[in-house]
Amino acid sequence: MFNVILFGPPGSGKGTQSERLLAKYGLKHLSTGDLLRSEIAAQTPLGIEAKNFMDKGQLVPDEVVIGMISSALDNNPSAKGFLFDGFPRTEAQAEALDKLLKLKNTEINVVLALQVSEEELVKRLLNRGKTSGRSDDTNENVIRARIQEYQNKTSVVADYYSRFGKVKNVQGEGSVEEIFIALSAEINALQVTA
Ligand code: AP5
Ligand code: MG
Repeated sequence: MFNVILFGPPGSGKGTQSERLLAKYGLKHLSTGDLLRSEIAAQTPLGIEAKNFMDKGQLVPDEVVIGMISSALDNNPSAKGFLFDGFPRTEAQAEALDKLLKLKNTEINVVLALQVSEEELVKRLLNRGKTSGRSDDTNENVIRARIQEYQNKTSVVADYYSRFGKVKNVQGEGSVEEIFIALSAEINALQVTA
């Protein structure tokens, strides 16, 4: 299996680049944000609880998202690899993911970390908020809270995987195509040596 984490702050382009990487490498996409939004749309108890956190720009509790990822891994036994988008977002989630993958005799091969300035993130998200219908995109204070939450709790996930030499920083500003080429180059370099 080949497992990738696409890492970066809110608005850094994880979803945009995931679509292209999935098509190119045939990986299974696991986005906790998308999974949570489907729970909200279906008005499940999990979705209703999660919405309270998401609307404030706060992270949903670890046990909720770890449970969702655990089920998703079990439900895709024949996947040739996973692309994690927006997960893990805390050190506890990273440790839990490592354990879940170990049970399946696999591991994270690479963490591709998109680098984007805060002003560019806010600009992109406010712009998307005009059409996305996402309640966490329309208010600049909520957008800033999401970025703050990233700095306080999520940026340490890159430090965690750096200890294992798995992080590759990729410039996340520029055209979508340029960034896709840079991400693909990192994956190709690893697959050649694998
Ligand atoms: P989630 O859905 O993961 O959202 P996010 O991380 O805040 O990031 P986005 O999806 O907004 O941005 P993105 O990086 O995917 O960028 P995109 O490609 O869309 O999480 C939402 C919430 O769910 C969290 O706040 C939290 O509450 C909860 N949650 C989710 N996972 C969790 C977890 N593991 N633990 C706890 N809580 C969790 O691009 C953004 C915009 O920029 C788009 O309009 C796009 O068109 C544009 N764009 C993309 N690339 C470029 C480019 N190169 N140049 C110009 N514009 C670009
Ligand atoms: Mg996204």
